[in-house]
Amino acid sequence: MEFYDVVRTRRSVRSYKPDPVPEEVLNRVLEAVRIAPSGSNRQPWRWVLVKDPETKRKLAEACNGQMWIAEAPLAVVACGRNLHYNRGGYMGDMSMLVDLSIGFTHLILAARNEGLGTCWIGSFDNDKVKKLLGVPEDWNVVGITPLGYPAAGEAAFRVPRNRKPLEEIVSTDKF
Ligand SMILES: Cc1cc2nc3c(=O)[nH]c(=O)nc-3n(C[C@H](O)[C@H](O)[C@H](O)COP(=O)(O)O)c2cc1C
Repeated sequence: MEFYDVVRTRRSVRSYKPDPVPEEVLNRVLEAVRIAPSGSNRQPWRWVLVKDPETKRKLAEACNGQMWIAEAPLAVVACGRNLHYNRGGYMGDMSMLVDLSIGFTHLILAARNEGLGTCWIGSFDNDKVKKLLGVPEDWNVVGITPLGYPAAGEAAFRVPRNRKPLEEIVSTDKF
């Protein structure tokens, strides 16, 4: 797909077909994640693929009951290692969130390019998900997404209309 078509038609998908994601397709998406940039190239991430149906169900429960997440053949749980240092003043401990968000964005755009749906899930119980997946103490869950083919097919990928106009969000030389 043309890059701007990918960006313009990525939408949150909340209903999935159970069809599996072919291994080579999944690998291309994961490769897009692997090469994402991160501060000082530290790559403070672990991408946990949840495929087991029972684990997926418990994961959806831990996402404050968003059970549709379990419809997809897999979910990706983005975990970030807490970075206890300050890169020259840049955001300090919060810089891990920036790194994970970049990797996650690579994931959702690469998925769209493959005709796969995603939905960035930020509403979840960090402690419950950590316990479920055995995430180490010094790590946190940053984001979760189901990954699979949308139940609505290509119709799921519509250009969003409810966005602020450019003149409201961009300014030049001053805030
Ligand atoms: C950080 C973040 C957290 C989100 N958490 C949820 C969530 O828990 N559940 C959900 O259904 N959608 C969630 N969304 C999806 C947003 O509601 C969605 O991206 C937004 O409404 C724009 O719609 P679009 O993605 O279809 O363009 C989240 C999105 C982001 C970026």
